[in-house]
Amino acid sequence: MPENETTAPSLENLLHETRAFPPSPAFAAQANAQASLYEEAKADRLGFWADQARELVTWSTPFTQTLDWSGAPVAKWFADGKLNAAYNAVDRHVEAGLGDRVAIHFEGEPGDTRTVTYADLQREVSRAANALTALGVTQGDRVVIYLPMLVESVVAMLACARIGAPHSVVFGGFSADALRSRIADAEAKLVITADGGYRRGAPSALKPAVDEAVGPKDGEPASTVEHVLVVRRTGQDVAWTEGRDVWWHDALEHADTFHEPVAVDAEHPLFILYTSGTTGKPKGILHTTGGYLTQAAYTHKNVFDLKAESDVYWCTADIGWVTGHTYVVYGPLANGATQVIYEGTPDTPHRGRWWELVEKYQVSILYTAPTAIRTCMKWGEDIPAGFDLSSLRVLGSVGEPINPEAWMWYRRVIGGDTAPIVDTWWQTETGGIMISPLPGVTATKPGSAQVALPGIVADVVDDEAHSVPDGGGGYLVLSEPWPSMLRGIWGDLQRFKDTYWSRFEGLYFAGDGAKKDEDGDIWLLGRVDDVMNVSGHRLSTTEIESALVSHDVVAEAAVVGANDETTGQAVVAFVILRGEHADRASTPEGAEEVQAELRNHVAKEIGPIAKPRRILVVPELPKTRSGKIMRRLLRDVAENRTVGDATTLADSSVMDLISAGLAKPSASSED
Ligand code: PRX
Repeated sequence: MPENETTAPSLENLLHETRAFPPSPAFAAQANAQASLYEEAKADRLGFWADQARELVTWSTPFTQTLDWSGAPVAKWFADGKLNAAYNAVDRHVEAGLGDRVAIHFEGEPGDTRTVTYADLQREVSRAANALTALGVTQGDRVVIYLPMLVESVVAMLACARIGAPHSVVFGGFSADALRSRIADAEAKLVITADGGYRRGAPSALKPAVDEAVGPKDGEPASTVEHVLVVRRTGQDVAWTEGRDVWWHDALEHADTFHEPVAVDAEHPLFILYTSGTTGKPKGILHTTGGYLTQAAYTHKNVFDLKAESDVYWCTADIGWVTGHTYVVYGPLANGATQVIYEGTPDTPHRGRWWELVEKYQVSILYTAPTAIRTCMKWGEDIPAGFDLSSLRVLGSVGEPINPEAWMWYRRVIGGDTAPIVDTWWQTETGGIMISPLPGVTATKPGSAQVALPGIVADVVDDEAHSVPDGGGGYLVLSEPWPSMLRGIWGDLQRFKDTYWSRFEGLYFAGDGAKKDEDGDIWLLGRVDDVMNVSGHRLSTTEIESALVSHDVVAEAAVVGANDETTGQAVVAFVILRGEHADRASTPEGAEEVQAELRNHVAKEIGPIAKPRRILVVPELPKTRSGKIMRRLLRDVAENRTVGDATTLADSSVMDLISAGLAKPSASSED
């Protein structure tokens, strides 16, 4: 069984509370998805995907082959077809006479707004594509995008796609060091950033991190970056490197509004997105064009029941994460949707900001993360009750398991007890949704992602790769290739094979524990590897440990994800300090000082999102005889549980030592 199963809710408890919510006949009658989709896909899986690709995507050269799995585990989908993702997201809607349809209702945190139609988007993306070309970016060059949530962020991604330059978006909350390593790994030629953005009521800066990331540092040469394109958002002062830095508005002002999109092969790289793995080095997950776009459009249409002519869709994810790629940019735009993009935080300037936006734009489909729902629960239901949310008709959840209590609250308070909830399981690696109810078809169960989508084959297996019976638990695997699957880890084929394909022969190992209930529905139970999930963001324990030990005062570090009511998990670090520093931390003030230093250090190395919630100074770490840290025992400590079986420790008295040390108030702190 998965090692961290103890951290997941017990299935018995979940099932005890479970009620299934069948779709209303009215919804089912109008739904995009019908139960027959499952039958169709089962009867001819590849034919089913080929139909989706032909129906939902426009090809400049039609494909004749659906799947080539001869190079497994690197798949080729629709390989002899050609297309352009930006053309599919923008131009074809304008050509179909929908140029006046709103593509984006943008709402800045300070309250500034902008409405962008598909025709506007076509002009902007074309201009940006011409500007990138003028700056020397050509097909195949990598472009790093480090921006807040702005219209320009979407335009920048589509401009890259339009010229066949793979983009690599780096979340604005990552530090200069994290940005630097991603730029280096992707060997990016250009960075698109902004002076800053608005967050929590104040402008925050982005450009300084880029300046630090692209210049020479500590004997390392300057990066491969030739130009930095800078969007002016806040108007704050920025340092300027002549010849390298170019204002976005200057570059676009002189650029033509016509640009011919480049038809690329279906397997041409569309983007690289870095995500945390079980080792210290983030993985550059590679996605290509044709299969990715097909699954993005198919899932967006069916899982959210999108009616492009009447719905207003809002996905609250940042473009720095895969959810922002697939369900802010490529899926909704490929389907010609009208969507809301909001720059800021949910509580600025007040805790009803999201609900105010739902009311203002008459949002009908909302896609967000359990952490956000739990935060709103904490703030109280009288806040959403102050707004008219009756436009909402489908609610989505993503990023982490949603506890039944939050699910029920979401349904009742936000969805007026009628809107179906789709709990969507997927990953950066899968590119699109894989397991989810279909609204109008599935009787939904609070807390379960339930069933693999039509065309997807998922299973739960035991240690020997045997499918577990209904009622059993084990590891989630994907048994057949799917169109939007990752095509590898950028520059590291071996790591791709080792990470996903070596655990079980011929099966994709997702890294999640799961159970099947008596109906065969799937319940996700959290990661079984050293990846944490904090507020729906993936963080690696090893990466944070490396950051900690790179600080002078730390001799050794172990990091665990401890259960947290709001954020799902919270980062808790156990550190052994080097000799003289251990003395420094022996007083409460000294310990606090060291802990603050270390938290800031992690923020600098990785980003504020990775800051440990708690840092516990300990004299030893629990290790097996082979030297492996037993994180399970540390998790017991972090979650204030009785420490479990410690007999496999090299020195079983270590846990007593840790517990005794932590009993002293000076050894731990929380903020
Ligand atoms: O553990 C699963 C969890 O998030 C992981 C993927 O993280 P990331 O690549 O950052 O993508 C997040 C957005 C797709 C998975 O391995 N996860 C994601 N969605 C769910 C989930 N866990 C349970 N239920 C979900 N609906």
